[in-house]
Amino acid sequence: MGEIKFHVLTLFPEMIRQGLAPSIIGRAVEKGIISLNAVDIRDHTLERHRKVDDYSYGGGAGMLLQAQPVFDAHRAVTGGRALRTVYVTPQGTPFTQEMARELAGEKEIVFLCGHYEGVDERVLEEIVTDYVSIGDYVLTGGELAAMVMIDAVARLVPGVLGNELSWQEESFDNDLLEYPQYSRPEVWRGKKVPKVLLSGNHRQITAWRLEQSEARTSLRRPDLYERYLRRRQLAGELARDKRCHIHMMESLAEGRCEILYAGQGDVLLYDRKAGVCMGEAAREESCEILAGLVPQEAGTVVTSHPLIRDLLLKGGFQPSCEYIQVLYTRRVSLPVKREIRRLTMESLEEIRGFCQLDGLEDSIRAGALYGAFEAGRPVGAAGLHREGRFGMLFVEETSRRQGFGTALTACVVNLLLEKGRTPYGHVPAENQGAWALLEKLGFYRAGKSFWRLEKKLANRPGIW
Ligand code: ADE
Repeated sequence: MGEIKFHVLTLFPEMIRQGLAPSIIGRAVEKGIISLNAVDIRDHTLERHRKVDDYSYGGGAGMLLQAQPVFDAHRAVTGGRALRTVYVTPQGTPFTQEMARELAGEKEIVFLCGHYEGVDERVLEEIVTDYVSIGDYVLTGGELAAMVMIDAVARLVPGVLGNELSWQEESFDNDLLEYPQYSRPEVWRGKKVPKVLLSGNHRQITAWRLEQSEARTSLRRPDLYERYLRRRQLAGELARDKRCHIHMMESLAEGRCEILYAGQGDVLLYDRKAGVCMGEAAREESCEILAGLVPQEAGTVVTSHPLIRDLLLKGGFQPSCEYIQVLYTRRVSLPVKREIRRLTMESLEEIRGFCQLDGLEDSIRAGALYGAFEAGRPVGAAGLHREGRFGMLFVEETSRRQGFGTALTACVVNLLLEKGRTPYGHVPAENQGAWALLEKLGFYRAGKSFWRLEKKLANRPGIW
């Protein structure tokens, strides 16, 4: 069984099968992570000669795909279930990375590819949930558009791109286009690779890449650049109390969140992928407004304001323990004195033996979890939550107090430092052991405690 099923209703099923087979998507199909079912609409016509089109009433527009074969092809796939059904059409909403991410959360999606001059409106009304276009131009049919969407959605499904943290640096994710890249040879047609990239100095390389991304975005996509600048400005304001605001600053810097509200010291951010809202109010009278702006689908709200907490508790959120926000502001990497490796699915069962984290399997698939190994066997794990903070630290009972927790934390911290990030985490206030470990490593703590209020949702975002 695949993790996500794509059904494509089309007059050219071979185009879909052959178009996607040789690619990364084809490999993911072979591995069973996704499944692709191209359905020939013609197989469902009741007409002799397999006819599926006819003239448009009122004249003029040319041939239309008729309602019956499309409806029956759809029925054959869904068996009457209410599946997300995307009609690819130039009259649709423009497709974006955000939409790809949202669709990647589905288990099954049907794409309908139009042909000729269109499809009988009545069947569209019956089956279509989303009208989506891939751009303001007209193709001869919907197949290429459907393939574009399938490709963009499938690569976000854990496991499709391999065990990489490939979600980390993506064009559009932080409203910046990607920086230029170079491979061998060092000189080609007299053009040299920029010196800084050969320096081995990660900090300088990261800074250079950011500069390049900014220049490129400002030139090519001024619309994105404006959004980027707004986020950077807010991050600058939050930096006045870095210890208390690092979670919001990091989220803004990485382009993980939208600004739902910002002004006069009141802030509400929403990390849609993680389903996490972060809110702080400078004025009591703002708390009600901020609490009211928390999106319905947010599974977690992080705040240090007791009034926001109380309002959310009344609104169906569960009580939370107090957390301490910790951050590592030094730029020096930490020594890793145990064997630490990124975890693969091979270790899943062994890890499960001593660790019952929510979404353990997905975290491993996403390449977000690291393991400490002793004599080839995993004895502990730590990694990155979807919202960017480190955590998920767990060491098997019998292996505690032997430096595995320290090594795991150090490894994740180093990883974040390499990416130019400021490592931070949320530690339950009563977990004295964890705090002692972090303090020894050079972490600071925020001056006030936080709550992480959670709401029970049927389809909770945020776990890998
Ligand atoms: N079918 C034809 N042109 C299209 C487009 N631009 N986007 C989606 N589907 C289409």
